[in-house]
Amino acid sequence: MADLSTSVGKLKLKNPTMLASGVLGDSGESLLRVAASGAGAVVTKSIGREPRDGSSGPSLVQLEHGLLNVDGFANPGIDEYAAEIRVALGGEIPVIGSVFAEDVEFYGPLARTMELHGAHALELNLSYPHAEGLEEIAGDADLVGKVAAEVKSAVKVPVFAKLSPNVRELVAVARAVEAAGGDGITAISTVRAMSIAPDVARPVLGRKFGGLSGPAIKPLGVRSVFQIYEAVEIPIIGVGGVLTGLDAVEYIMAGARAVQIGSGVHYRGLDVFQGVCQEVEAFMDENGYARIEDMVGIAHEQ
Ligand SMILES: Cc1cc2nc3c(=O)[nH]c(=O)nc-3n(C[C@H](O)[C@H](O)[C@H](O)COP(=O)(O)O)c2cc1C
Repeated sequence: MADLSTSVGKLKLKNPTMLASGVLGDSGESLLRVAASGAGAVVTKSIGREPRDGSSGPSLVQLEHGLLNVDGFANPGIDEYAAEIRVALGGEIPVIGSVFAEDVEFYGPLARTMELHGAHALELNLSYPHAEGLEEIAGDADLVGKVAAEVKSAVKVPVFAKLSPNVRELVAVARAVEAAGGDGITAISTVRAMSIAPDVARPVLGRKFGGLSGPAIKPLGVRSVFQIYEAVEIPIIGVGGVLTGLDAVEYIMAGARAVQIGSGVHYRGLDVFQGVCQEVEAFMDENGYARIEDMVGIAHEQ
């Protein structure tokens, strides 16, 4: 039988599935349930310095081929979240703490606090708008490099930078993460999108624009991982539209060492982790792959 264990740098995983940030990550209890359902690791909701309320109006709508959600950055704040991490650590799988900040200099202290709370690794959510405008931090390779370097000097645990597809120079940003000493890259976050309700002639979301996730964005995620794999040596975690084992295999063959599942929980429930693992294993057995490692990046071979 195929061996599903894998590693993302120093982080060892019993299987290649992780819970993606923002989905069921609000409380330690829900992270524990995800651990019990068979995930290889969990990522917390993105946490900032201060508590922040959610937006009013619909915040998540299901479209034909994906989900549209408001990037509200609602969270209880880093101090309050310590208790949730403590609970989540009982799940006996790696807990990856996701952090976001309004400014470069806030990332280091925030990441350090997340590490002190007990997170085994950090994921940097770089989708927050720049101080000057609406452009995401993730769109500016220099800024991303600065954030990654700040965080690396503040913590000892592995640091993964989560990249956004809403940028022009994805590969340059990935290279900046590597040059700054980042331990890995997570790709991708949601795609900026919009839906309009014809009957009322208004945007469906109160904030007009939201983040698209789920099956609709899988080809964009796979393409992003493929390109990043050719540009950097550090490990990649693939995310975007993973619902089945074959979706996970696509990401792995593009170059990912693990995948995250967010919308998949909405579509398949908590069984999605075990289901994806069983389907990956069946695929490997049928096709003669003994280890995840044997599939990583093989779509690049001529
Ligand atoms: C409801 C919802 C909330 C999310 N919140 C966060 C978040 O707090 N931080 C983050 O980095 N990504 C967040 N994301 C993005 C996911 O982590 C993931 O990158 C994206 O949804 C693509 O994966 P999927 O197709 O498996 O959902 C959120 C996604 C959804 C659907």
